[in-house]
Amino acid sequence: MLKIGSLTLKYPFILAPMAGITDLPFRMICRRYGCELAFIEMISARALVYENRKTEKMIATHAGDRPLGIQLLGTDLEFILRALDIIRKYEYEVIDFNAACPVTKVTSKGEGSGMMKEPQKLGRLLKGIVDHSDAPVTVKIRAGWDEKSVNAREVALYAQDAGIKGLFIHGRTRQQGYSGRVDYNVIREVKEALDIPVIGSGDVFSPVHVKKMFDETGCDGVAIARGALGNPWIFRETAEYLKSGMLPPRPDIHEVADIMAAHLRASVEFHGPVMAPVDFRKLFAWYTKGFRDVKPLKERAFRAKSEEEMLELITEFRGSERSSEASGGASSGL
Ligand SMILES: Cc1cc2nc3c(=O)[nH]c(=O)nc-3n(C[C@H](O)[C@H](O)[C@H](O)COP(=O)(O)O)c2cc1C
Repeated sequence: MLKIGSLTLKYPFILAPMAGITDLPFRMICRRYGCELAFIEMISARALVYENRKTEKMIATHAGDRPLGIQLLGTDLEFILRALDIIRKYEYEVIDFNAACPVTKVTSKGEGSGMMKEPQKLGRLLKGIVDHSDAPVTVKIRAGWDEKSVNAREVALYAQDAGIKGLFIHGRTRQQGYSGRVDYNVIREVKEALDIPVIGSGDVFSPVHVKKMFDETGCDGVAIARGALGNPWIFRETAEYLKSGMLPPRPDIHEVADIMAAHLRASVEFHGPVMAPVDFRKLFAWYTKGFRDVKPLKERAFRAKSEEEMLELITEFRGSERSSEASGGASSGL
């Protein structure tokens, strides 16, 4: 169980926000396999205010897509408060603030992990958000800006003082981006310093890694990000593994193909027939990872332009059962 303010979760693992990935179809596929709290990708407060039409699609949800968190990005409190007013009607269960994004376009404006350089300012922004929100507010931070300025503990304490109800920490510095290994020590230090729940993030590619994050850091929850790419089963498998200590069998090729087809259909309904197949190219590669002899299929998927073409490739993938079974099903991510 994990409590974030008024929200109580049965499972302490969460689908992390991923820009360009955790859209409504992606979240719903993960929910089929027991994902409880999921996050929409980060949304710029300024974009919400100025380009409401464009962001509307990004923040779209429906009654089955719950509990749901939204993550805001920004550095100007006035825009952030206006953004909060715009999203109020969606009644998200969690409002997260991004102080973790490493992208230069973002940090050059002082946003995302640029906020790690200004813990007091971050604290003031969070206080403003907490005072203006009905839902519990959380923040996502990194270990620090670079290896010489690992200040997650200090940042986390300012954030806690602002009245947030939970803290996500990706245990890498901004400078590391997504390279190197996650630093469990820094997550543990933050966990030991705070009274609010701490949710660890980084290098969680399988149920074994989820357990490792809990064991190494003592954290209260774990955020699953890249481990869910083409692998919604990770949620069901993690629940099973944490309960029994046994890794359940990986889905076979038919289950993978069924879910690929369902995901593609949902994407076409959501993004339309032109955008969806192009967007699905990367998903095709992720879903088929670990199966044998799929390289030619992947190459063709990267040129597919229609739902029919993509479906045909999924059918061919399903038909490649004999050679794939030798590899023992979907990649475990280990
Ligand atoms: C493609 C991609 C997009 C991401 N977008 C976001 C985002 O919008 N907001 C955020 O807080 N983190 C984002 N992240 C970071 C993840 O939520 C997570 O913290 C990070 O990937 C570390 O976890 P992992 O090593 O288990 O993938 C993104 C990561 C990836 C790979």
